[in-house]
Amino acid sequence: MARITASVYTSHVPAIGAAMDLGKTHEPYWQPVFQGYEFSRQWMKNSRPDVIFLVYNDHATAFSLEMIPTFAIGTAAEYQPADEGWGPRPVPKVVGHPALASHIAQSVIQQDFDLTIVNRMDVDHGLTVPLSLMCGELDPKTGAWPCPVIPFAVNVVQYPVPSGRRCFALGQAIRKAVETFDDDLNVHIWGTGGMSHQLQGARAGLINREWDNAWLDQMIADPAGCAAVPHIDYVREAGSEGIELVMWLIARGAMSDVVDSQVQGPAPKVRHRFYHVPASNTAVGHLILENA
Ligand code: DHB
Ligand code: FE
Repeated sequence: MARITASVYTSHVPAIGAAMDLGKTHEPYWQPVFQGYEFSRQWMKNSRPDVIFLVYNDHATAFSLEMIPTFAIGTAAEYQPADEGWGPRPVPKVVGHPALASHIAQSVIQQDFDLTIVNRMDVDHGLTVPLSLMCGELDPKTGAWPCPVIPFAVNVVQYPVPSGRRCFALGQAIRKAVETFDDDLNVHIWGTGGMSHQLQGARAGLINREWDNAWLDQMIADPAGCAAVPHIDYVREAGSEGIELVMWLIARGAMSDVVDSQVQGPAPKVRHRFYHVPASNTAVGHLILENA
């Protein structure tokens, strides 16, 4: 059967993609950011996932403000990098896994989560920047991401957005779905976006190191408590775009220590933890957890 062996968490700042695409990663401003992912790139090579279930948010790119699904699962065979106004990023297309994605859609909808099924979409920096951070530079034509990816888009752009509690419960449903797929697959689940940032209004530029790190501590050790944090706390403490962090709770809920929304099994192993400010307007947070 398929199994989730690890979860990865990372911010998705678009300027990080631009720094890679324009060859600026060794500049003093960017060097400390990329240093924080050196371990992760080696870990990706050793861990050899067969499929990445990648939880991310679209930024009004594939879904305009005309149509906003709360949770959308990509069941397509492939996805092209989106044009976000400066042309598509020069990275390889993203190959999907229609069989596993369709199985997860079937199972998770039967577990009473209403997913939107997406058979065609482009993927923006929310998905391609985490892949670039974890996999390094790849030639857009001859290179390929290390394995198929199932994009799972969450609305964190237009209110009302889903609660942390619902995201945490959804992660548990996704794990059940993966574990009822017959093929032996090593599956990673990634939660992306965050950490503290606010891109507009009077508090634009807000960063809250102390809150971010306390939230990381709680997300690792007390995920059920973390899932109970209300939206207003994210927005007040981590800025309007800090709400992207609820997506991390989908990945955390899919780890094997969580049963019936409580921690009941052995804690996952923290393989890597990294936090850095600044990166564009965002605090960068990154974690790798492996199931015990
Ligand atoms: C920035 C961060 C984001 O999450 C995003 O979607 C766009 C911009 C930034 O830091 O500039
Ligand atoms: Fe974002």
